[in-house]
Amino acid sequence: MHKVFITRLIPDQGIKLLKKHKNFQVKVSPHDRVLKKAELKKAVRGCDAILSLLTDWIDGEIMDAAGPQLKIIANYAVGFDNIDLKAAKKRGIIVANAPCPEISESVAEHTFALMIALAHRIVEADKFTRAEKYKGWEPLLLLGEDLKGKILGIIGLGRIGQNVARIAVKGFGMKVLYFDVQRNPQFEKEFHARYFPLNSILPRADFLTLHIPLLRITRHLIGPKQFKLMKKTVYLINTSRGPVVDEKALLLALTKKQIAGAALDVYECEPLIDCDLTDNLALKKFFNVILTPHTASATVETRQAMGVMAAKNIIAVLGGKKPLTPAK
Ligand code: DGY
Repeated sequence: MHKVFITRLIPDQGIKLLKKHKNFQVKVSPHDRVLKKAELKKAVRGCDAILSLLTDWIDGEIMDAAGPQLKIIANYAVGFDNIDLKAAKKRGIIVANAPCPEISESVAEHTFALMIALAHRIVEADKFTRAEKYKGWEPLLLLGEDLKGKILGIIGLGRIGQNVARIAVKGFGMKVLYFDVQRNPQFEKEFHARYFPLNSILPRADFLTLHIPLLRITRHLIGPKQFKLMKKTVYLINTSRGPVVDEKALLLALTKKQIAGAALDVYECEPLIDCDLTDNLALKKFFNVILTPHTASATVETRQAMGVMAAKNIIAVLGGKKPLTPAK
């Protein structure tokens, strides 16, 4: 019997897929919340597979608490910065992520929802209307701007970045500049996109969107120096990982009006919206900032598909095969 532990309830399809296997004993955490370290250590004991969430910090201690039979940690996310890969490698444990095609679509759509909301001042307009401030059509009321013809800087041209580019070019007639560790000549040709180093994109972009993993080298990739290089009219959108942006520097840039606004789905000290506990409201104070609670992938289709992909990774590894999507 293979023991599989799911650290929190996820949509049903992935769980059903695992439960179809007669030689799997599948247990879902009974608590609909992030488990405390001690709880997690106890819950994983004797497991062959852990289906973890991005809110679980899985380090060597958790792996050792599970025991030497632990074969796979299947993360229910594209990102896997919550798992100590070195510790897993040392113990011969496979780590897999869940980059299903659906998530690339959802996150790209959410990025656009944020971008349009910023440009057309949707959140401000909604608040204004609800507050019964609308007294009649005005030529200068809540003027925003169009996306058409604007320059979109895409930092990170993986699957999500490419989907964002497709929507930008085909749907909105935007011009795309991108930066990635690897150039993609095929993509450049198809989308008339231009490759630039990061610091050369910053002074050119009207909208800047981040689609990179959180790694040691990407932490605070956008900091004081980068904000200084940006146009005063730029909008920054972050749906990747919070610590990629130095939040203090962002707050300063907003305060000094170094940028026009920002939309964030992720936060440096998540789930806190601001790292500084004494001033936890800081980002919320800005009318030109839109905040969503890490819900860029939160569609039924995507969250089901992520579960199925995590389940398939577990089924493959416990069946003696390679995972479909190893974390790398
Ligand atoms: C991911 O998959 O890494 C996303 O952040 C989940 O929403």
